[in-house]
Amino acid sequence: MSYVKSAALDEKGFVILDRYEQSKDPKEWLDLEYVDWRSSGETRFAPLASANGEIEVNGFWNHEPPRTDKDGVWIPSQVEKAPTLTRRAQEPGANVGRCRVIELKPNDYPEALYNLHQDDNNRLNPDGSGWIVRGFFNLSDDADSFMVLREERFDPDTEIRIPLPAGTQLIVDTQRFWHAVWHPGPENRYCLITSWESGPQLDAYIERWNGTSEHESTPLEESFMDNAQNEVQRRLAERAAALASRGRDDDGPAMSEV
Ligand SMILES: [Fe+2]
Repeated sequence: MSYVKSAALDEKGFVILDRYEQSKDPKEWLDLEYVDWRSSGETRFAPLASANGEIEVNGFWNHEPPRTDKDGVWIPSQVEKAPTLTRRAQEPGANVGRCRVIELKPNDYPEALYNLHQDDNNRLNPDGSGWIVRGFFNLSDDADSFMVLREERFDPDTEIRIPLPAGTQLIVDTQRFWHAVWHPGPENRYCLITSWESGPQLDAYIERWNGTSEHESTPLEESFMDNAQNEVQRRLAERAAALASRGRDDDGPAMSEV
């Protein structure tokens, strides 16, 4: 057995859909209730669907009974405030797990690289069912921000950067890619993130929206990339040393969403 995956995502691990006309919709994300992520005070989330229909954003495997990132429970008070976002998350007709709006504060390129992580969406997902991938709908207009994807965490040659103007719609295998968003700001970025189960419904949706993996990243200056890479190594070493001095292992940056 193996997981059911999308042919459209199989080769490159991401697809870019047609741009959505975001400016025609009300800014529902500004009305939602947000919660802090790991008390960081930095990134906040407004869940539309969660493990048990409560306003919290923990992985479904951290609840009782633990389960994979499917069968999210819609939160009535949030859905009421964001009917359009809810409709968009449900449009594929695929099983939805976690669904939430992220509020991301501005950062710089080294910080984005530092935040690179792989998701854990398929933890407890039974073999033979659909592989869980994630939809990213950019809500705010962030044409100078990028979704940064890497096959290899520390290899800039594997990097793909996709700009994020309002209405950008991406589907990414976030368990395959190291990913983070580089968001220069100055305003917060808002994005709807939905966990979907791969299968015929998601395939048909990708086709309807003309999903493509064709994308050429605008090159960055080599010295800019090198400096950022060095800065990340410095921060990681600093972090590892600080943790070691307290007798703790380093389990990576706390930021695990984009
Ligand atoms: Fe993530």
